[in-house]
Amino acid sequence: MKRHTALTDIIGSPLPLLQAPMAGSQGSGLALAVCAAGGVGSLPAAMLSHDALASELQILRQQAQGPWNVNFFCHTPPQPDAAAHTRWLEALRPFFEEAGLDPAQVPSGPGRVPFSHAVADVVEPFAPPVVSFHFGLPTPDLMARVKGWGSKILSSATTVEEALWLQAHGVDAVIAQGLEAGGHRGMFLSTELGTQLGTFALVPQMVQAVQVPVIAAGGIADAQGVRAAMALGAAGVQVGTAYLCCPEATTSALHREDLMSEAARHTELTTLFSGRPARGIVNRLMRELGPLNPAAPDFPLATAAVAPLRAHFEALGRTDCSPLWSGQNASACRAIPAAEVTAALARGFD
Ligand SMILES: Cc1cc2nc3c(=O)[nH]c(=O)nc-3n(C[C@H](O)[C@H](O)[C@H](O)COP(=O)(O)O)c2cc1C
Repeated sequence: MKRHTALTDIIGSPLPLLQAPMAGSQGSGLALAVCAAGGVGSLPAAMLSHDALASELQILRQQAQGPWNVNFFCHTPPQPDAAAHTRWLEALRPFFEEAGLDPAQVPSGPGRVPFSHAVADVVEPFAPPVVSFHFGLPTPDLMARVKGWGSKILSSATTVEEALWLQAHGVDAVIAQGLEAGGHRGMFLSTELGTQLGTFALVPQMVQAVQVPVIAAGGIADAQGVRAAMALGAAGVQVGTAYLCCPEATTSALHREDLMSEAARHTELTTLFSGRPARGIVNRLMRELGPLNPAAPDFPLATAAVAPLRAHFEALGRTDCSPLWSGQNASACRAIPAAEVTAALARGFD
């Protein structure tokens, strides 16, 4: 099936449908399956070492049918702050005690690294058809490098102001990330959560404001959702949560179980797992500390202290301290091939 829009003009894919990059929940396997079904598969690179990134890019270059996307974060890494780290360990102390773990063993260094010239050195030989960014854009010299090797550039915008900023800084299309979306909010001009709009309010206002194509993301899980997004003026859609239970994803068994249960009806934005607001299914850590506890240090420094707790409880078959990223609409999460999810969404382009 094919559907032509201003987005497919730019990217050259049969469908104006992007599988959302989902760090920690998928690699090239899901991306390849979506590409084979006519969508644009994405590789999340934020948590990959240079070697792992190179081998995933090699697989995509050799095997992808049609254009594919590789995704990076572009946050400014914070300085490690010993006092903030101590406050965070203190907030987590009851969990460390229950788990019988020593908080002194927790490293305080950064976790996820932003896009840089060193990363660009790894990517350049592969000249990905599409490169997308989250949390803004890299510096102008890096933008020029990515454009220079021929990639089309996308980034997430959570407000009209961010969309205008991205357009002014040279993106080929913007991803309108509505408040329903799973995973991290891509917000980068403001940290005020009150500025964040739902997909239905965000997409038409963004379409009005910018000249570049707008890709709707957040809460889209079936053909009706795709139709609604296109009716609001979107030139395409980006879908994440609906792919999380596909066999090609690497989502853990415990996360899959929660996504396909009643628990998935209650998500919240939380800073507890990384330091930036991200949407996930409410679990014990979020309930007991409060999802936006101010003790959580800056992104991505919150992650390191939660990691051993997560591992401890997961070994017991529990998700008390796991980030269970999910959008507000997990209704399409089923153990079915990504080709089936893509075909079901594509019916919305009829
Ligand atoms: C598990 C998960 C991980 C995510 N990781 C990333 C990421 O690494 N990079 C990114 O740009 N967006 C990430 N997102 C956000 C998606 O790009 C997108 O905004 C979102 O999935 C759309 O909403 P939906 O989940 O309701 O379909 C993630 C989303 C989920 C659910």
